[in-house]
Amino acid sequence: MLLGSGGRENALAWSLSRSACIDELVAAPGNPGIAELAEIVACDIEDPTGVAGLVRRARFDLVVVGPEAPLVAGVADAVRDAGVPVFGPSRAAARIEGSKSYAKALMERAQIPTAAWRTFADPDEATAYLDEIGPPYVIKADGLAAGKGVVVTAERDEAVRAVKERLVEHRFGAAGASIVIEEFLDGEEASLIAFSDGSHVVACEPAQDYKRALDGDAGPNTGGMGSYSPVPACPPALVEQIVREVIEPLVRQTAAEDAPFVGALYAGLALTSKGPKVIEFNARFGDPETQALLPRLRSDLGEVALAAATGSFGPDTKLEWSPDPCVTVVLASGGYPGPHQTGHEISGLNAASVLEKVVVFHSGTRREGDRVVTSGGRVLAVSAMGDSFAAARARAYRAAGMIEFEGKHLRGDIARRAEQNEGSL
Ligand code: AMP
Ligand code: GLY
Repeated sequence: MLLGSGGRENALAWSLSRSACIDELVAAPGNPGIAELAEIVACDIEDPTGVAGLVRRARFDLVVVGPEAPLVAGVADAVRDAGVPVFGPSRAAARIEGSKSYAKALMERAQIPTAAWRTFADPDEATAYLDEIGPPYVIKADGLAAGKGVVVTAERDEAVRAVKERLVEHRFGAAGASIVIEEFLDGEEASLIAFSDGSHVVACEPAQDYKRALDGDAGPNTGGMGSYSPVPACPPALVEQIVREVIEPLVRQTAAEDAPFVGALYAGLALTSKGPKVIEFNARFGDPETQALLPRLRSDLGEVALAAATGSFGPDTKLEWSPDPCVTVVLASGGYPGPHQTGHEISGLNAASVLEKVVVFHSGTRREGDRVVTSGGRVLAVSAMGDSFAAARARAYRAAGMIEFEGKHLRGDIARRAEQNEGSL
């Protein structure tokens, strides 16, 4: 059983439906893309008791949790208590994502390289600290804010406004009751996701996410406007260093503190001149990184997830990847991440989906009769493979261009730098 309803879960469903060890895939609450791959059941996925009851009654053999909210609510604990293997961390382990100040303190205890930081609940103290450290400023809501709680700016006015919005106007509710202000990290970003069985880890290949809404990394932060994998700026030796200095220490530390991490551990990294430093940890797969990773995965996702959920990684557990790159372009509603309209009919889905080496994942869509309409900020993620970044990009953008809905917005520069650097790989 797969929990979730976004593009990441559509990609997980796509991979799980190809697994040789899965006969039947059920998803809740799913979306129209997932419904083509799994049986949909209705269920409040943030209610631990309800999910555990359903899982027990239906005798599911494995539960895979996609998004963070059920994890932070304790759904994995309830399913595990019901005696069913679950791919996803306990509520205690999910705090690495649910609370930025908890994650920072944990990184300090495990000596994991990350930006210097302080946490504040008082707006005047926060503003005084901004003036102490100077620009560029990085201000984050402490709790979960769907990737939108972070402001990075060189402008003092904007930084002070960000503090006020969180600590005075409570724009992010409880998630912004306290904030973290941290050192600005320079350098290219990469996301490294690793499977953990609680004590052993197996890393995926790296991916890169595009957080800003507009081309050239302009505009506000979003949940992610596109991605690609692998990452030329993060070659295998650097991946090994990140596993050694970031992933393994985190898994060791959580295990030592009685909150072993089982599931997908996501490290968002800045590749600085002083080595990789953690920007954030997430307790789940990335969205849209997963949409660019899973089309490249040659190993059986069901097998790996079950082995992780049952603590049975061996020394030989490895992941096999296609050497071909994958490029993912997100189609968003006009105005996202701000206010946006929904309910617009989507055309061209079938024509785009049948293109060779293209998969179209649904993020924010809804079925209305025989039409599929937009229902969220990020609507679709179009992934394409190719034997080069140039080929994968061309395919992804061709497919993205075949799909239309009112207000459609996409970035035109996803993986452009990877394509330009291709000659030097
Ligand atoms: P987060 O939600 O913590 O991942 O932050 C969202 C985005 O803000 C990151 O992907 C970065 O692009 C940017 N960001 C966050 N923290 C920093 C930092 N310390 N230095 C520079 N950029 C950052
Ligand atoms: N793409 C960033 C995230 O999933 O948090």
